[in-house]
Amino acid sequence: MMPKAFEVLLRDEISSKRLDGSYKSERIIITAQDSEIQTEESGKTLLNFCSNNYLGLSNHPDVKMAAQKAIESHGFGMSSVRFICGTQDLHKDLENRLSRFLLKEDTILYNSCFDANGGLFQNLLGSDDVILSASLNHASIIDGVRLSKAKKMLYHYDDVNELNDRLKEAHESRFKVVVTDGVFSMEGELASLDKIVQVCQDHEALLVVDDSHATGFIGDHGRGTAEYFGVHDQVDLFTGTLGKALGGATGGYISGKREIIEWLRNTSRPYLFSNSLAPAIIGGAIQSINIVESKEGNELMGRSKRNTGYFREEMNKKGFQIKKGIHPIVPIMVGEANIATSMAEDLLKDGIYVTGFSYPVVPKGEARIRVQISAIHTMDQIDKAIECFVKEGNKYEVIG
Ligand SMILES: Cc1ncc(COP(=O)(O)O)c(C=O)c1O
Repeated sequence: MMPKAFEVLLRDEISSKRLDGSYKSERIIITAQDSEIQTEESGKTLLNFCSNNYLGLSNHPDVKMAAQKAIESHGFGMSSVRFICGTQDLHKDLENRLSRFLLKEDTILYNSCFDANGGLFQNLLGSDDVILSASLNHASIIDGVRLSKAKKMLYHYDDVNELNDRLKEAHESRFKVVVTDGVFSMEGELASLDKIVQVCQDHEALLVVDDSHATGFIGDHGRGTAEYFGVHDQVDLFTGTLGKALGGATGGYISGKREIIEWLRNTSRPYLFSNSLAPAIIGGAIQSINIVESKEGNELMGRSKRNTGYFREEMNKKGFQIKKGIHPIVPIMVGEANIATSMAEDLLKDGIYVTGFSYPVVPKGEARIRVQISAIHTMDQIDKAIECFVKEGNKYEVIG
């Protein structure tokens, strides 16, 4: 029986979350994920500027059709983990497809990138090894690194000199592994992989890049951040998600050297002890990669770039303080937490769905509204968002 004191403690903790503004409530969307959505409470159409639907594939007719076909041919569920009786030809197809797309020897699928990062380090590295992790890495990397017995070192995410110093300090370790997000999702900032690969080479460190916010649309062919910097072949392992640009459903993966992937298939706990991805997810994900590699994908990537460039430039011109960059994640800096929360609420009333982020997700005094631009936003939709931002920005006095 749950002790009364425990119940009271949790109630108090929840109340203090409500008071300090860190309580997370969820809006109920009653339509498909798209550039226009409706929520239960709004009763009207909202322009969606806060999803990771970078290419607009989450509700793409061909992706939905491929998912339906996979259900018809391969059923709804797997009812097994991969190594017992949960591997279909579809799973191997998607793994091969991802390996080809990412130009790597092999790929292992997980139910999420959270699982991929959680299952990567624990049984791959031992106490003689060291992991150097970038300061703003995603929670799943932080948790994955914690599970390993390897020594842990942190470096400031955009300080390559510090990474170099840490690697020097770690020179006696057996194997050195550097792990970084390709894109830091609160900043919309790319990791300086051009410099990081060089430092890794100098110290014979293995480089892992979680490219969840880049695979499918950053770089000439959409291969991600490393392709953007021209160093794709120098990254040893990519982890990533199928839950953002590549159809947006669910699923994650690790791609890289054959021996590492084979070892993970035999030792990685979220892979060994969790159900296989459902056929519909696989069918939709394969179709999403087909689209990325097609003329349509090329056009969508072009539109993502154009839409992002236009929004960033116009918001700059209007006097907003935005973090510089090229990524469709565009943080609009507003300073205090209460401004971020109230301004996002007022923008929602104006028909623009965006999210405010504040401490502890970002540093104190650096609260922001994070806008995410999609390839399927029309210019009219982007202009409408800018117009509403100007209206609310003037009201909250966050325009310089
Ligand atoms: C950098 C990064 N890694 C991992 C994840 C987790 O991905 P998934 O939703 O597939 O678990 C996310 C999602 O927010 C992410 O941004």
